[in-house]
Amino acid sequence: MGTDSADGDGTRCVRAGLPEPAPGQPFLPGPVFAAPYHLDPRQGPAATPNGYGRPDNPTRRLLEAAIGELEGGDVRVFASGQAAITGLLLAVLRPGDTVVLPADGYFPVRAFATDTLAGIGVRVLFAPTVGPYPSFAGVRLVLLESPANPGLDVADVPALAAAAHAAGALVAVDNTTATPLGQRPLDLGADVVVASGTKALTGHSDLLLGYVATRSAGLLDPVTAWRTMTGAVPGAFDAWLAHRSLATLDLRLARQSANAEALARLLAGRPDVTGVRWPGLPGDPAYALASAQLRRMPGVLSFDLGDAERVARFLTASRLVAAATSFGGLHTTADRRAQWGDDTPPGFVRLSCGVEDTADLVADVTAALQGRAPC
Ligand SMILES: Cc1ncc(COP(=O)(O)O)c(C=O)c1O
Repeated sequence: MGTDSADGDGTRCVRAGLPEPAPGQPFLPGPVFAAPYHLDPRQGPAATPNGYGRPDNPTRRLLEAAIGELEGGDVRVFASGQAAITGLLLAVLRPGDTVVLPADGYFPVRAFATDTLAGIGVRVLFAPTVGPYPSFAGVRLVLLESPANPGLDVADVPALAAAAHAAGALVAVDNTTATPLGQRPLDLGADVVVASGTKALTGHSDLLLGYVATRSAGLLDPVTAWRTMTGAVPGAFDAWLAHRSLATLDLRLARQSANAEALARLLAGRPDVTGVRWPGLPGDPAYALASAQLRRMPGVLSFDLGDAERVARFLTASRLVAAATSFGGLHTTADRRAQWGDDTPPGFVRLSCGVEDTADLVADVTAALQGRAPC
């Protein structure tokens, strides 16, 4: 069916990547489970886009079309966000290249860089999302993560893209936290988007997914080749589930963002909670940049409860906030990031708002911070 550039987010989400209507056919075709496909005995794979399941799957292609409509680029989906990010890095970087990575972003990317990239002779520099950034002279790729997970700082993508391009560097933006409805990095000047689709994009906490989006064939081709060679593809059922989930992205984000605003205001007003961060909160260090750059505010916020024991008491007392890592799902979750090795204080919590009723969530969190079950 496709979308029209004038369509609103909700319309774009329900139509993204769907085939043209055909009588007797479903809106979203079911998953195609195939390793090999029948080939034309004479023309072989030249006769069909489906030859073998690792490079070619029609369910995956429909999902790629859908995400591509939302990001405004060509998309390749991967088995996870990590597969997409490491795939881009390894497809683009060569020994002797320099890469700039976020110092405060998703920590397995940093671990991969210091373990694997440095090991093959790539020079790795780290910069905080808010800067200062090193000179981009001689840099091959700058990866930004904005808003950054878990600290929620925001990078000035247009300014950094201009500086990087002036020095001949490529710019990638990890768009996991914002999703393509919250931010369009390719319109902000980035060359390529990477993201985990495991989070809000699909939002049901039931699958892993990643993707790379770009308008540059010079980037898409090596990324596609990398994915085919390494086989880091999602299965057809996960791709179908992801496409099905995408249809409600606009609705889910609207509630998640409203819930995040209510909780950020609640927590910021409490003397027993410190360090509340949510880019949509006036007064937040990221507020000005986020307001200029984001199309909508994320459903994730962070704060500090002082120590691990108080976080445990809060999670035990809460009925609606589940102790779980990841974020962006239908259910509100909270994660004490230090327990995973993140460089955060012991009482630092990343809280991901689900789609529960705002009043219920506010009542539950208020009661849980008091250390009692809600009435
Ligand atoms: C910002 C960010 N990028 C990438 C990833 C990796 O995604 P996945 O878990 O799907 O591999 C995550 C996971 O939490 C993330 O938060």
